[in-house]
Amino acid sequence: MTDDFQRYLRAKRTVDDRALDRRLVARLRDSLAGRVADGETVSVLELGAGIGTMVTRFIEWDVLPATAVHYTAVDLRQANVDAVSEQLRNWASGRPVTVDSANGRVTLSGAEREVTVEPVAADAVEYVETARADHDLLVAAALLDIVDNVPLSTFLDALDTGGLYYFPLTFDGATRFRPRHPQDSAVERAYHEHMDTKSGGNSRAGDSSLIELQQLPGVSVDAAGSDWVVTPNDDGYPADEAYFLEFILGTIERAVGERAETTETLQPWLRTRREQLETEQLVYSTHQLDILGRVGDPDAFE
Ligand SMILES: C[S@@+](CC[C@H](N)C(=O)[O-])C[C@H]1O[C@@H](n2cnc3c(N)ncnc32)[C@H](O)[C@@H]1O
Repeated sequence: MTDDFQRYLRAKRTVDDRALDRRLVARLRDSLAGRVADGETVSVLELGAGIGTMVTRFIEWDVLPATAVHYTAVDLRQANVDAVSEQLRNWASGRPVTVDSANGRVTLSGAEREVTVEPVAADAVEYVETARADHDLLVAAALLDIVDNVPLSTFLDALDTGGLYYFPLTFDGATRFRPRHPQDSAVERAYHEHMDTKSGGNSRAGDSSLIELQQLPGVSVDAAGSDWVVTPNDDGYPADEAYFLEFILGTIERAVGERAETTETLQPWLRTRREQLETEQLVYSTHQLDILGRVGDPDAFE
C-alpha cells in the first residue's frame, strides 16, 4: 500500500466520527444558530483543514445554520488543498446536493443551505495575521498538537466579537497499542519526545491548550475527551481503518526511527504490530480533547 496522506485523511473520517464529543457538537450547533440571524452569511475559517472533511461533517450533522455559509479551508500542503474539490464532489454525489465551481471556490447547494468552500494553501499563522477579524467560527481539528509555540490568541484574533472557536481532536499525551508489548513504553516515549523536540509539536497540546484558553480574558471554555479507539470487529477493521493504522505505524517508524538509540527497540516492535494488524488483532487508542468556546462575549455562551 502507498503512504498516501490524503487517503489517511479520508480513512481518519470514521475514526474521528466515533471520537468527537457529541455534547460539544450540540453546543456548537446551538451557539452558532443563536449567533446568526436568518439571511446572514456565516463566516467559517478552518485552519489545517486537510481535504475538507470537517465541512462535509458539519453539513451531515446539521451544525451549520440554515443560511449561506462562506467556509475558508486553509492548509499548508498544496496537495491537500488540491484534493478538496474532488473530495466535496465525491461526497455530494448520491446526495441531494448540487456542486458548482468558480474561481477556485466550490459551492454546495442543498435544500436548506448553501455552503461556499474556498480552499487556501497557506501557513495557518501567516493566514490569520492578515485575515479579517470577522469570522463567526474558527475551527482547528487535530492541529494544535502540530503547531506549538503559537499563542492561541493569535488564532482567536480571526474571530468577530462573540465568535466561536472549536478545536477538536487535540492530541493529549497518550498513545496505546494492544496487546501489550514489552517495548510499548519506550516507543511511546520516543514518539512523544519526537513530537516535542523535532517536529515542532506538543504531545500534551490538549491539556496545555485548555489551560491557555482558560487564562485568556473574556474567553469562555468547554472541553471533553475525544479519544480515538480503533479495534477490529467480526468483519475486520471498519471502512479503511486498516490503512489508517498502517499510516500511523509508518508515522511512528519515521519519527522514532530518526533516533539512532531507539532503532533496535523499534524494529521488533514494528514487526509485531504489523503482524497484528495483518491478522486483525491490533487495537489502537489515543487520548485527545475537544475544546469549544466563545470570545469577547462569554456570558452569551449557551
Ligand atoms: C492531522 S492533519 C488534520 C487535518 C484535518 N483537520 C482533519 O482532521 O482531517 C493536520 C493538517 O494540518 C496541516 N498543517 C500542518 N501545519 C500547518 C500550518 N502551519 N498551517 C496550516 N496547516 C497546517 C497539515 O497539512 C494537515 O493537513
